[in-house]
Amino acid sequence: MIKKLLFPAIAAIAMTTPISAEVSTGIIPKPVEMTVSDDALIELGPNTRISIKAPAEASGRLKEYIGQVKPQWQTAASNGQAQIVMSLENDLPGLTSTEGYTLKADKNGITIKAEGEEGLFYGLQTLLQLIEANGGTGVPAVEISDSPRFAYRGMMIDVSRHFFDKEFIKKQIDAMARMKLNTLHFHLTDGAGWRLQIDKYPRLTEYAAWRKGNTWSEWNINGNQYAEYTDPEARGGFYTKDDIRDILEYAADRHITVIPEIEMPSHSEEVTAAYPELSCTHDPKGTSDFCPGNEKTFEFIENVLDEVIELFPSQYIHIGGDEAPKTAWRTCELCAARMKAEGLENVEQLQSYLIHRVEKYLNSKGRDLIGWDEIMEGGLAPNAAVMSWRGIEGGIKAAESGHKAIMAPGRYCYFDGYQDAPYSQPEAIGGYLPLELVYSFDPAPDSIGTDITRNIAGVQATLFTEYVPTPEHAEYMLYPRMSALAEVAWTPQELRGDYGEFHERALKLNERMRKEGYHAFDLSKEIGNRKEAMTTINHLGRGKKVDYLRKWWSNYTAAGETTLTDGIRGGWNYNDQRWQGFVSGNDQRIDVVIDLEKVENLDSIGADFMQIIGPDVWFPSKVVISVSDDGKDYTTLRTIETPHEAEKGVLFRNYGWTGKAKGRYVRYQAFAEKGVVFTDEIVINPAEE
Ligand code: ACM
Ligand code: ZN
Repeated sequence: MIKKLLFPAIAAIAMTTPISAEVSTGIIPKPVEMTVSDDALIELGPNTRISIKAPAEASGRLKEYIGQVKPQWQTAASNGQAQIVMSLENDLPGLTSTEGYTLKADKNGITIKAEGEEGLFYGLQTLLQLIEANGGTGVPAVEISDSPRFAYRGMMIDVSRHFFDKEFIKKQIDAMARMKLNTLHFHLTDGAGWRLQIDKYPRLTEYAAWRKGNTWSEWNINGNQYAEYTDPEARGGFYTKDDIRDILEYAADRHITVIPEIEMPSHSEEVTAAYPELSCTHDPKGTSDFCPGNEKTFEFIENVLDEVIELFPSQYIHIGGDEAPKTAWRTCELCAARMKAEGLENVEQLQSYLIHRVEKYLNSKGRDLIGWDEIMEGGLAPNAAVMSWRGIEGGIKAAESGHKAIMAPGRYCYFDGYQDAPYSQPEAIGGYLPLELVYSFDPAPDSIGTDITRNIAGVQATLFTEYVPTPEHAEYMLYPRMSALAEVAWTPQELRGDYGEFHERALKLNERMRKEGYHAFDLSKEIGNRKEAMTTINHLGRGKKVDYLRKWWSNYTAAGETTLTDGIRGGWNYNDQRWQGFVSGNDQRIDVVIDLEKVENLDSIGADFMQIIGPDVWFPSKVVISVSDDGKDYTTLRTIETPHEAEKGVLFRNYGWTGKAKGRYVRYQAFAEKGVVFTDEIVINPAEE
């Protein structure tokens, strides 16, 4: 009997037939087409040979890789005799890319075919996963035809905030290869440390690569001090050019392109500390931006890029471009002169001038520029590709105007946020990005039109490491979320509707990776979202009109004017579009009146708030709850005063009244001396009759 799994129309059948449990395939990312038969497993053993029909260089690389991964069947006590044939061929029907492959396993053996060496490599990855999922020596009889959805399938690692050595990077490259990810974006420079040997600027690695403070937090609290590498207190490190060549070779053998990122014009405190003349103020302390008025800046950038280009073969070179405050540019004479000479009207155009000029330089060397979505401000450089991190809008805008876009929005792709209930996790930068939310991301929804989606080259997860002090912790944040990202990147959207089914496969991969020594988060112990967010709540105020005497903050609108009475409660983070945010120039934050439409007997009125002091989210310092029959004269039921307390963590607290009262209008006011306050629902309960 043959069962076709994974075609959308019959996915429901596959889910309800026992075959998927019996013949465990469990491949991540899920192949485009797979037919599984319930014939006996095809057994491999020490007698299994792999023959590769491909040019010598390609087959040499594949053989070397197989030698390194040491498949289990080669040493197992198995009588399996199945033979493996891998061959490069032209014009294989059904494949849409040289990364695609076909794989067939039956009683005659196993064949993998592809039009490119990378396709053979991915076919091999699928085979290795099939074997792992079936006890190490057996493969179910399958027929697979598979190609990626996106050409760019990326992972970014920030090695500036915490330095991780090259062996760690190679271990992650192995994990990427198994998930068919093909691009490592290497965030090599940032304020917390420069990580790349540059011969022309030795101070970058004698000084800017070292700091006082083991962790980013210690360094940050103690005033961002750098250190001479000879200082016994110096912490940090950098990659020598030999280290990089080693990483690059290892990555190339696994069909992974490494894109280096050299930050400019901002996130460059470590450079201006080592070479103060490159900032507007020439102050070695605390200046994040290069001076774009100074020719020396361009001399530096070009010299550095020369060495970067010589080392890294990637077509794209990432130049950062994000989050430049541009403050010193406004008062710098050289910047003013540059703006005058170039006819630039504002500092945004000055940033754009720098980006365009650097792009021209890269183009003159045969390379292309990629940067964070800020590179579009003030006009996008002509050939540049955009990495969209502040939502997907930047990527859409870039794609619309013909640029290539990579989607890496914070909400779905920033793995520095909590992956489970914050109280159960090591300190993270904030957020709440569980596996399911990563999996739910569609980087190129059909609704935006093919004119745009055709320029969306792919998707990437990022691991910024301010709160990720050790290599073990980095793996903990990366996995298993990277497996969801890999499937987002590879598998067509219509084939990955069912999170429950993915979750089953992710659990198995998670268990295997943990056994192999990856310090992955244990998915089997996931707690999940805040319990209040899992159901809706009924109460007297539900569906009633809310009169906002002060409006919410437009950055955190949630569901607008229905938010506080829609019965929907917020989750672990304020970015889930269920928490409404309130800011203001004075103490008053929230002032709303809920009209219950008639006088009611009341038993309780309350609202939940959260506090996360890192991003300046605070509990209210005062709450006043009052009621009225006519909407004019109010009786105060309760005033709650709680001075701000800078307690760490992600905290929740209810501010409410309980008692006996009557009223039609309920007024809820919250005050805070600083920051934003967030609430999700004002819950009004009736008195028992
Ligand atoms: C970024 O997160 N600043 C790209
Ligand atoms: Zn300047």
